[in-house]
Amino acid sequence: MTVIQTDNIVYYYEGASKPSMDGVSITIKKGVKTVILGSNGAGKSTLFYHFNGVVKPKSGTVKVMGKPVSYRKKDLRELRSKVAVVLQNPDDQIFGQTVEGDVGYGPRNMKLPEEEVKERVDEALFQTGLGEFREKNTMQLSYGQRKRLALAGALAMKPEVLIMDEPTAGLDPQMALELMELAEQLHHNGTTIVISTHDVDLAYAWADEIHVLKRGKLIYSGTSEGFYRDSAAVHSTGVMQPSMFVMNENLARMRESDPAPYPRTESQLISKMASGPKGGLEIVLVDGELGDSVHAALKGGRKTGVFGTVVRRLVSDSEKKADYMFNGFEACAGECLMGRDSVLLCDRDCLDLVKAKIEDLKAFGTDISYNVNG
Ligand SMILES: Nc1ncnc2c1ncn2[C@@H]1O[C@H](COP(=O)(O)OP(=O)(O)OP(=O)(O)O)[C@@H](O)[C@H]1O
Ligand SMILES: [Mg+2]
Repeated sequence: MTVIQTDNIVYYYEGASKPSMDGVSITIKKGVKTVILGSNGAGKSTLFYHFNGVVKPKSGTVKVMGKPVSYRKKDLRELRSKVAVVLQNPDDQIFGQTVEGDVGYGPRNMKLPEEEVKERVDEALFQTGLGEFREKNTMQLSYGQRKRLALAGALAMKPEVLIMDEPTAGLDPQMALELMELAEQLHHNGTTIVISTHDVDLAYAWADEIHVLKRGKLIYSGTSEGFYRDSAAVHSTGVMQPSMFVMNENLARMRESDPAPYPRTESQLISKMASGPKGGLEIVLVDGELGDSVHAALKGGRKTGVFGTVVRRLVSDSEKKADYMFNGFEACAGECLMGRDSVLLCDRDCLDLVKAKIEDLKAFGTDISYNVNG
């Protein structure tokens, strides 16, 4: 199913002699983790402005959920509650005086009951780690905090499609990892996510499908590997090959073996290379609080990792921290690959996601045995 489709859109900015969108026909599919790549000025942000009707193409059409976009004010408001775009520059998006006021702006505009507005604000602030800043003046936040605030405002809309323009640019590495984990979680819960980024490593690990723009034209749509294999095309686009892709290609050449299957994560790469006995993984599920099994695991001898926003906040506040507070699945899988048992403390609603990751490793020759606790 298609969520957004553009047909041959052309767009010129006021006074520009060259089009910034030059006949772009792109299809964004429901539930497909989508990345838009392209160098500076390629047209990524301009494309996103078309997705929620901020700009209207000079020619061509934009359809959202099968319907042509209507540019009437009332229709646009409805469109933006379904398709939320988190702009590249947070200052283009933050209007409220206080953090909580700003996050509640969208839901209040949707005329939701105040109780629900409050719930949504709480959840969005929690997801973006801004809880402690809720009463703060938005002007007093750092750049990265304002980026997170802009995201919180979009999350509070509970959109069907969440589009993020350079979401990790300006975030510290931990927050960037957390954001991608959140994106995975939202995707898993049914939100279609589209991001633009210059971070090809991060995009490679995450994307199901990529679209590449060059000077306002769409030059590639498909799998990441389909694009990165053509190194001349990659370089002429101003993009780089992801390091994981390059390592795997080199490894395949050294071993004179087929580069497929293509590892996207460290654990997948190591799986391809390592054989021998594997450790087991205990997955401990966490809801609202840390139970006895979590405390026991944190004090036990095995390495522990966390996966999910809720468990990360809870363990951060507890006396004993986990060994791997970020990238927990990768770290724990790495332990198992080295033949050691490990424990993954995991948000309950991330369990299926973790199981899928374990399943994915099988294609690379690793079958991690696990048990679920809680
Ligand atoms: N407000 C504007 N007025 C005139 N030209 C603009 C405006 N915004 C963007 N452009 C031009 O449109 C083209 C596409 O810009 P756009 O911001 O969409 O690129 P981008 O791929 O998002 O780049 P970046 O990676 O730097 O964010 C560029 O050539 C840019 O100079
Ligand atoms: Mg941009």
